[in-house]
Amino acid sequence: MMCFLNINEIRKDFPILERKIRGKSLVYLDSAASSLKPIQVVEAIREFYLIEYSNIHRGVHYLSQSATSRYEESREKIAKFINAHSSEEIIFTYGTTDSLNMLAYGYGLRVLKPGDKILLTIMEHHSNILPWMYISTLTGAKIDYIDITDEGEIDYDELDEKINEKTKIVSITHMSNVLGTIIDVKKIAKKIHEVGGVIIVDGAQSVPHMPINVRELEIDFLAFSGHKMLGPTGIGVLWIKRDLLDDMHPPRLGGGSIRDVTLDDFTFLDPPHRFEAGTPNIAGVIGLARAVEYLEKIGMNNVRRHEEELTSYALKELDRFKGQIDVYGPSSVSIRGGIIAFNVKGLDPNMVGGLLDSFGIAVRTGKHCAHPLHQRLSIDGSVRASIYIYNTKEEIALLTSALEEITNATIR
Ligand code: ALA
Repeated sequence: MMCFLNINEIRKDFPILERKIRGKSLVYLDSAASSLKPIQVVEAIREFYLIEYSNIHRGVHYLSQSATSRYEESREKIAKFINAHSSEEIIFTYGTTDSLNMLAYGYGLRVLKPGDKILLTIMEHHSNILPWMYISTLTGAKIDYIDITDEGEIDYDELDEKINEKTKIVSITHMSNVLGTIIDVKKIAKKIHEVGGVIIVDGAQSVPHMPINVRELEIDFLAFSGHKMLGPTGIGVLWIKRDLLDDMHPPRLGGGSIRDVTLDDFTFLDPPHRFEAGTPNIAGVIGLARAVEYLEKIGMNNVRRHEEELTSYALKELDRFKGQIDVYGPSSVSIRGGIIAFNVKGLDPNMVGGLLDSFGIAVRTGKHCAHPLHQRLSIDGSVRASIYIYNTKEEIALLTSALEEITNATIR
């Protein structure tokens, strides 16, 4: 097995990995729910609160000006990380869910008319379904869904058939949070642009794990969260292609977003500030920028290659359990991230999660906020192991040996 990352060095930055859980070394395979945090990120936040703290954009005093610079430099860093045209395209939000809600209220509500179509897939996370459901009731636009193939890919032929001049918005995950499927968003972007619509990409599971270049992908909007990419909770990003910034109305209004207010009117500041009313999560932004720095030092190509190696190994190991364990999603790691959902035949996924916990192994169980996908797969839930930069081949082997004990005990 090639080694793309210096895992031993990386693991030293995550003290939680030294913990014993139920008497066993922690094996953290739940990064798709939320990643662990390195010391560097926690220290950046701590330092900001303890010795650098002030509100931003609201003071002439030294601390406020230096906090404002840190905040805006962080925006620049994140813009570069995804190759945005400029930092004005980066809007700080509370997370992916917030970014998608902002798009539904700020963009969808503005452009959608009765009879228009919003195209989603059945593998979407609820955060990319529910806001559209509500906006469709307000606008009269209809939602349509693309199905998946037996391999867990989206059906691109169906997508071709379903995109027409009525389709104003395609909102789609870049990497399924259950199947791990990586979607060819560039192909979809080209198609939707031919009919004058836009593509919104839910990058919650892709941005932390692979190089993302919004210009190369030719997409229009991208939503992602800090907490799944080594950053703190409560901070996320909404990237809006600059040509579309004026088509979006800020869904939240208030201080810090306006140039002037009279008793009966107001004028907005330029983007991105018009979208960030209220005191933002300043420490969260600083923590996220530090997380981005950490990931850039490793190199996103190396992150992806490491996860491909581990996923490929995990899929191969799980293949030994044919007939006993069902694994969902694509078999090829070229179109799959480090997310592996599975079920042990005859056992409730929550029970399997509980049993794995007794081995010190943390996984997520249930429907992973993707009920329609589970309905489509005709399953009540699944166990999900998810991988990140600090995971090792040995940990995957611990997962499969625990599963071996679980399946053997079940047979007996
Ligand atoms: N959206 C996160 C997940 O899939 C919480 O687990």
